Amino acid sequence: MGLIGSLYRSSVGKKSIMAASGLLLSLFLLTHMLGNSVSFLGRNAFNTYAERLHSLGVLVYIFEIGLLTLFLIHIITGIILYLENLQARPARYSVNTSEGGRSWGSRTMPYTGVIILIFIIVHLMNFHFTDKSVPVADLVRELLSSPSLAFFYIFSLVALALHLSHGFWSLFQSIGFNHEKYNPLLMKGALVFSILMGTVFILIPVLTLVSRSFLL
Ligand code: HEM
Repeated sequence: MGLIGSLYRSSVGKKSIMAASGLLLSLFLLTHMLGNSVSFLGRNAFNTYAERLHSLGVLVYIFEIGLLTLFLIHIITGIILYLENLQARPARYSVNTSEGGRSWGSRTMPYTGVIILIFIIVHLMNFHFTDKSVPVADLVRELLSSPSLAFFYIFSLVALALHLSHGFWSLFQSIGFNHEKYNPLLMKGALVFSILMGTVFILIPVLTLVSRSFLL
């Protein structure tokens, strides 16, 4: 409790917790994105992939508990930091510029964070707390061929890409990596990573809506 307590007492400590949990969540997202891209190989490949995952049994539960813990740590610490920032700046600036190091990307973090949270709740209801005997390809087609749900997914995934683009950049700032020479490269890397993630995820609802043969 000592280390966790002292981390939570300082703003730098809380930012490090955000960075570490954000990095691990991004690794989950990367594997989930790679797993989802199996859907581009056709329904049989996608269903076989999902069945193999389920056959891992107890390991899946352990992984899920770890993932839930990470999400909770990231959300709760984010809320604490947001409230502390509000207290530190009681009077809102009248001019809406990014002076003082607060960029547009960083200002939208709490909002994109809330959109992602709502998305995850809806997404788990859609795909996790569901009848596991239905082949995953059928589930994706059945749900995402509804335009309203598909557009909700696309909107949330754009918010996710925006959140990742800033989050990935600030992650390196939080661990103290701030080098004039490498900063532009890091910024580009964060942008490429978030656009790649967003695009691959978004292709699934888009293909379900527009393609007659996707996952059929
Ligand atoms: C179009 C985009 C996405 C599709 C089609 C998709 C599809 C799926 C499917 C089919 C499952 C169930 C896997 C199974 O148990 O067989 C799943 C689980 C999950 N997804 Fe997604 N996903 C998408 C995007 C996302 C995003 C952006 C996030 C996070 C921000 C996310 C978080 C999760 C989580 C936390 C689970 C539960 C993991 C588990 O039960 O072990 N997904 N997703």
